[in-house]
Formats: sequence, structure tokens, C-alpha cells
Amino acid sequence: ENSKFSKLLAINEKTKEFYHHILINTKVGEAAYQYLLDRGVEKETIEEFQLGFSPPQRNALKLYLDNQEGLDNTLLSETGLFSDREDRQLLDRFSGRIIFPIRDHKGQTVAFSGRIFEGDNSETTPGFHSAKYVNSPETDLFNKRKILFNYDKARPIIRREGEVYLFEGFMDVISSWQAGIRNGIASMGTSLTHEQIQQMDRVTDKVVIAYDGDQAGLEATKRATEYFTDQTHFTIEITSFPEKLDPDDYIKSRGKEAYKDFLLHGRDTLMSFLMKYYRNGKNLKNESERLSYIEQVLKKMTTVNSPVERELYFNQLAQEFKVTQDTLKEQFQQHAFENQ
Ligand code: CTP
Ligand code: MN
Ligand code: MN
Ligand code: MN
Ligand code: MN
Repeated sequence: ENSKFSKLLAINEKTKEFYHHILINTKVGEAAYQYLLDRGVEKETIEEFQLGFSPPQRNALKLYLDNQEGLDNTLLSETGLFSDREDRQLLDRFSGRIIFPIRDHKGQTVAFSGRIFEGDNSETTPGFHSAKYVNSPETDLFNKRKILFNYDKARPIIRREGEVYLFEGFMDVISSWQAGIRNGIASMGTSLTHEQIQQMDRVTDKVVIAYDGDQAGLEATKRATEYFTDQTHFTIEITSFPEKLDPDDYIKSRGKEAYKDFLLHGRDTLMSFLMKYYRNGKNLKNESERLSYIEQVLKKMTTVNSPVERELYFNQLAQEFKVTQDTLKEQFQQHAFENQ
């Protein structure tokens, strides 16, 4: 089994090099390469992340690997690189897609993700799937609950900086890396798992959640904060991107320097984020909605340990809603007591 493990790794390594070569050096990869450059991904970054392109021709990888020795179809089908058809033909799962190699904590390529690329004739190719990203299925190498994209490279920087940036997408990690933010990781397009949070917990106790600025990103942020507070004692900070931008969009539209400035100075505490979140969709001119908002905030404030931070929120609430701080504190004490 150990040797099967290393065989699968070796196939992934060859595959990664093949896709990368196609992107960088061939006519077939030219349009995809240009697409990445147009998105602002620099040559050096393409090398750093070993990005690639899978030819639209659906047996290209199979033909390439067939020239290598000792690879039978059973082994090949266990790589997850092919989608099995009824006639047992192995067709390249990622054909026509831009390839992001997925590395484990040791830096070994254990899976791939392929982004749709609307060049060539990929859309008319039979069997074409239109999902924006397609990931490798679970294999002996790839347990997607455990993998954090870019964790191997980010880990020493996370330690040094004392915090980790959690992004939503691969492109956000990559563009941030290019902008000089190198302690960024992403989960695999799924919600965070216990295993992933544990991995972060080993190297830091502070997370900056920098998900997309759209409604989906906002909801995912809310869920992520709950996983972190349920499972760890992390300090959580949140960046809320304006105008539904994601980090990669933000860098493209406003530049690297503005982005880094925003990451540092545009952060909310967990409580300020939740205050914005609770207000969302409420009409605070309406008395009962106003009361329910104040209640929600006071309840959540029982989880804020810092008296100074609490004082800030009492102040804010008192000013906004014309209630005395004494009244707010009295109500707060009731909730604090209930939580004991
Ligand atoms: N994702 C996925 N399958 C999809 C869409 C998204 O697995 N059909 C995952 C990918 O990991 C992606 C992440 O969710 O990186 C975030 O999705 P989204 O914000 O839609 O994509 P971006 O990362 O912004 O991709 P791009 O900028 O290339 O459009
Ligand atoms: Mn290269
Ligand atoms: Mn998104
Ligand atoms: Mn996005
Ligand atoms: Mn994006």
C-alpha cells in the first residue's frame, strides 16, 4: 500500500508538470496563459503555484501517461484524474480547464482543481461540465476535509505574523501572495471542517476571515466565526469587502498597496461584524426590531472578555439608541447571569 501511495504521488507529479508545460510552452495553452496574464497573474506566480492547463482533447493526459512505464488502468483510475465511463475509457476529468495543483502540508501534490476556461471549443466537447471549478474526487492521497490550499507555504509565515488569512477562493490566495500577503490559505470550496480548524490551531490563535463581499461570502463568514468560537479560542477579525468584491477583484481594481492597507486597517472585531450582520435586513426605525437588535447585541456581548471592548459597544449603543449606559448594563448583566 505504501508503494501504491508513492506511485500515486509520482503520477500526480508527472501530471502537474505536464499541465504546466502545456500552459507555458505550447500553442494549446496559449489562450489560457494569456487569460491568466490578463487577470494579473504574473509569470513568477504561475511558476510558484505551478499553474497549468489541461488540453481540451479528452485523452491528452492518458496518452502522455501511457508513455510512462508501469501504469495500468486500475492504478490510473485511482488517481482521480480521469472520469470513468461505462466503456472503461479513461477520459481526462479536467480537460479544457486551467489547473491549480493542490498540495498537502508537506508540499506534495495530492489533488487538482480545474477552473473553467471559455477559450477554444471546450464548451462543445462531449461530457463537458460547466461548474466553475471541478476538484479531484477523494482518493487515497486526497482527503478534502483535511486540506487547506497553500497551507504548506503559508505555515512559516503564519507563525511569524501571528495570524492567518482565511480566503474563500484559490485566486484570492494566489493574488494575495503576489501582493505580498503570504500567510493566506483557503478551504476547498466547502465549509470549514473541524480538521482544517485544528491544523490552523497548531500554528496560530488568530484568524482574519477575508471572504468575498457578496451575500454568500457574508453568510459563510458568519458560519465560519461560529465554527471558530465553538472549537477554539481564536481571536477572530473580519474584513468586509465593499461592492461585493472578493480579495482578488479588490487587488485588480484598486491595486496592491490599497489592498494591503485595507487588510490591515479595514478589519472589524467579531462583535462589530456581528453588529453589522444583525442589522442586515432589520428596520431599526421600527421599535420592536430595534429592541430585538439591542437584545441580540447584548447577548452576544457576554462572550466579549475585554471590559474595554465592552465599554466601546455600550457607548455605541447608548449613543445610537438614546438609552443610558446604566440601562444597557443592567440588561447585559441579566444575560451574563443567564449564561453562568
Ligand atoms: N468553488 C467550487 N466549485 C464551484 C464554485 C466555487 O469548488 N462551482 C470553490 C473554489 O474553491 C473557489 C471558491 O469556491 O475558489 C470560491 O468561489 P467563487 O468566489 O465563486 O470563485 P473565485 O475564487 O472568485 O473564482 P474566480 O475569481 O476564478 O472566478
Ligand atoms: Mn515552469
Ligand atoms: Mn464567492
Ligand atoms: Mn470569489
Ligand atoms: Mn474571484
